[in-house]
Amino acid sequence: MADNIGNKPSKDYYLDVPVETEGFFLKGLNNNDFGIKNRLSRIFNPKSKNAVVLAFDHGYIMGSTAGLERMDVTIKPLVPYVDVLMGTRGAIRSSFSPAMDQAICLRATHDASVLYDDMSIGNGAGVEMEDAIRMNASAVAVQTFIGSPGETASLETLCRYVDAGDRYGMPVLGVVAVGKQMERNAKFFLLATRILAEHGAHFIKTYYCEDFEKVTAACPVPIIIAGGKKLPEAEALSMAYRAISQGAHGVDMGRNIFQSEDPVAMAQAVGKIVHEGYTDREAYEFFQDRKRSLK
Ligand code: 5RP
Repeated sequence: MADNIGNKPSKDYYLDVPVETEGFFLKGLNNNDFGIKNRLSRIFNPKSKNAVVLAFDHGYIMGSTAGLERMDVTIKPLVPYVDVLMGTRGAIRSSFSPAMDQAICLRATHDASVLYDDMSIGNGAGVEMEDAIRMNASAVAVQTFIGSPGETASLETLCRYVDAGDRYGMPVLGVVAVGKQMERNAKFFLLATRILAEHGAHFIKTYYCEDFEKVTAACPVPIIIAGGKKLPEAEALSMAYRAISQGAHGVDMGRNIFQSEDPVAMAQAVGKIVHEGYTDREAYEFFQDRKRSLK
């Protein structure tokens, strides 16, 4: 217990030093509570304001995908090269070590499997907020189906997660799914991202498209882009570069990293764009150099 022995005789109230009142480093999130901001600071690097998220949650609707048959073998070695792991509680609990620094963005909803013709029929709350907290998640991800039969159910699910997230200090990632009849263009993504933000999602995941700068400008909270199907490495890096240059705050990539001919080099190359301002060309050169040196 503190006692008076050895105390300095005079106190200093630093009357000439103004108290820091600067806002939070991510747009649109300054009025959230401490816990939300603290967790978001684990997802997004406060220096670059951006995030590299590795998505390997595919199994929750499609079983094992190429590259995810053994997550302990293929995904675990990539962990040191990304900021955030986006996976299910089953995958993370079974195949990863709790002794890691990376943040967790927990896939929280249950959605229709690939066996359904239309996977956008709707969804529901899969993981309770209590379990997300138990897993020390830094965010929960909620799938939504704007413009599809499941729109209402998925927005209801999103709202319940936002209510619980605000109650417990857990950020909610609203994920824009692309239904069968939805075109991947700025018109749709402008609509969908804005709807999710207005329903309270703290950050949004959507696909890259033409006129992407309009999508990021009209969304009041940060956007990260989804990777999508596997592209040649140079094209995937170019997409990441264009997205970051046009206002995205990060990249949430799965197949373009873990199905790469060199997943470690690819994860690092994406990080160069997201955090270090590399152009796509510089990042591709880096990828090729790393690939050679890792052999
Ligand atoms: C689907 C998702 C998944 O996380 C994502 O599709 C997986 O990543 P990738 O498409 O880059 O392989 O959010 O909506």
